[in-house]
Amino acid sequence: MSDTCATGGKLFKELDQFIEESGSTPDRLIAVLQRAQELFGYLSPEVQEHVAEKLKIPVSQVYGVVTFYNFFSTKPKGKYQIKVCLGTACYVKGGDRVFERFLEELGVEADEPTKDGLFSVHAVRCLGACSMAPVVLVGEQDFYGKVKPDMVSKILKHYSERGA
Ligand code: FES
Repeated sequence: MSDTCATGGKLFKELDQFIEESGSTPDRLIAVLQRAQELFGYLSPEVQEHVAEKLKIPVSQVYGVVTFYNFFSTKPKGKYQIKVCLGTACYVKGGDRVFERFLEELGVEADEPTKDGLFSVHAVRCLGACSMAPVVLVGEQDFYGKVKPDMVSKILKHYSERGA
C-alpha cells in the first residue's frame, strides 16, 4: 500500500468514526459532507460514494447536495487558496489583472492546484472591503488590500518559503 493509500485509508476510518458518533441517518448528510471535506480537502466521487453507502442513500442525492452548496468542492485545492476579488469595485481597480498575474506566475488555470499542491487561485465576489480594492485573501485570514500585479510574486514568495 502506498503512503497516499495509507493516508486515504486513515481518513476514511476517521470519517466512519464521525458517522458512527454523530449518527448515520440521511438528515446528517450535510454535517457528514462537511467533515469529509475537512478531512480530504475536497469531495471526490470516491468520497461521495462512501458517504452514500454509509448513510444508505443514493449517490445522486449526495451529488445533488454537493453541487447545490458552493462551500462544497469536488476538485482538489491548493494548501494556500488565493481568492482574488472580482467584484465591481475590485474589477474597476484592476482586480482582473491581479488575477491574471497569479495564474501566469503559477502556470495554472483558475481553480486548479499547482503541481506541488501549494496554491490554487479562485475568483470571488465582493469580500466586503471595497475601500481597499483590489483585494486578495490567502487562506481564511491573510488579507491584502490595494494589490498591484507587481506585488503578486512577493506574495507568492512569502507562502512558498513557508512551504508545505
Ligand atoms: S468588490 Fe472587492 S471587496 Fe468589494
